[in-house]
Amino acid sequence: MIARRTLTVFSLLFALFAGQTLQQAAAVEVETSGDIQYYTLTNQQGLKVKLTNFGAIIMSIMVPDRNGKLGDVALGYDNMASYLNAVDKPYFGAIVGRYGNRIAKGKFVIAGSEYSLAINNPPNSLHGGVIGFDKVVWTGKVADEGEAVVLSYLSKDGEEGYPGNLNCQVTYTLTDDNEIVVDYLATTDKATPINLTQHTYFNLKGEGNGNILGHQLMLNANRYTPVNETLIPTGKTPEVQGTPFDFTKPKAIGKDINKENEQLTFGGGYDHNWVLDKGGKTGELTLAAKVYEPTTGRQLEISTTEPGIQFYCGNFLDGRLKGKSGKPYVHRGGFCLETQHFPDSPNQPSFPSTILQPEDEYVSQTVFKFSAK
Ligand code: GLA
Repeated sequence: MIARRTLTVFSLLFALFAGQTLQQAAAVEVETSGDIQYYTLTNQQGLKVKLTNFGAIIMSIMVPDRNGKLGDVALGYDNMASYLNAVDKPYFGAIVGRYGNRIAKGKFVIAGSEYSLAINNPPNSLHGGVIGFDKVVWTGKVADEGEAVVLSYLSKDGEEGYPGNLNCQVTYTLTDDNEIVVDYLATTDKATPINLTQHTYFNLKGEGNGNILGHQLMLNANRYTPVNETLIPTGKTPEVQGTPFDFTKPKAIGKDINKENEQLTFGGGYDHNWVLDKGGKTGELTLAAKVYEPTTGRQLEISTTEPGIQFYCGNFLDGRLKGKSGKPYVHRGGFCLETQHFPDSPNQPSFPSTILQPEDEYVSQTVFKFSAK
């Protein structure tokens, strides 16, 4: 049984009376099916985002192209069963945690105690373990102002081997500037590693419309963190200049992807973390990436408070999974730009710390802004 609740009227009134705050006047429609809610946010420009409290997953993002034609730029499914039953679960659209990315051999030490995580990506732990934050039911509610969805999850002490009760909150806001703002907040009662990120696979041509190799990518990063053959960083942060990892100026993703390069071999293509150039603004919101798709004119700009970004170009997609429109998700049929702290930070003393202390708050923000030209 599906119950519907529409906050459109409220949001419109809010828009009329709020003056300056008109930027955040999206309408939110809620559908409920058992424990699962689906939220559809629509802004004044017609951009539409559908999400669910299962895994805090973004299920679709309808974005106009340069002719105003809407297309769904996010890979995923239109039904819960597919998310639950897909043979491979590639984290389509989800929030990953407690620790996004890899922790070497699934081990880390905090204050002399060693912790062990499931080795779900041998020989390492990946994306929070067997049942990470992408596979749990969050508690969702529409924000008081009616323009955002707030999702909360309590990860209990010992869950997936991590220490401390971790209270997490992820807020998705759709603005009238065609931005999806993702705000992360967390507190703990024991020191724990935390690294939350958003794992949407984008294809700005529209999901299922072939590969993303023609998209032009700019990464605001002069350095990256090369990895060993198990995708664990070596700890070095060399310059990208003169390598296939140089995206400081817009470049087609496919341009250098087949070059002879050990790092590209390890990743099966790009599957690496870049060190963002923060221009002295550590912890502040700065531009991280820009992606432009020439045939549709769609553009995506990503800003973040995080120090790093994982650029993964869908190397593990192989055409077996079919998405919501029934079209196969081919090799490199989508790319992820996961804003984050660097992989394996709990074991890498030279990287910015990912340990949240009980007296501190984890606060992070990432903004995905769409346009067309
Ligand atoms: C991240 C990892 C990749 C892969 C995907 C999910 O981007 O870095 O290696 O595991 O998630 O398939």
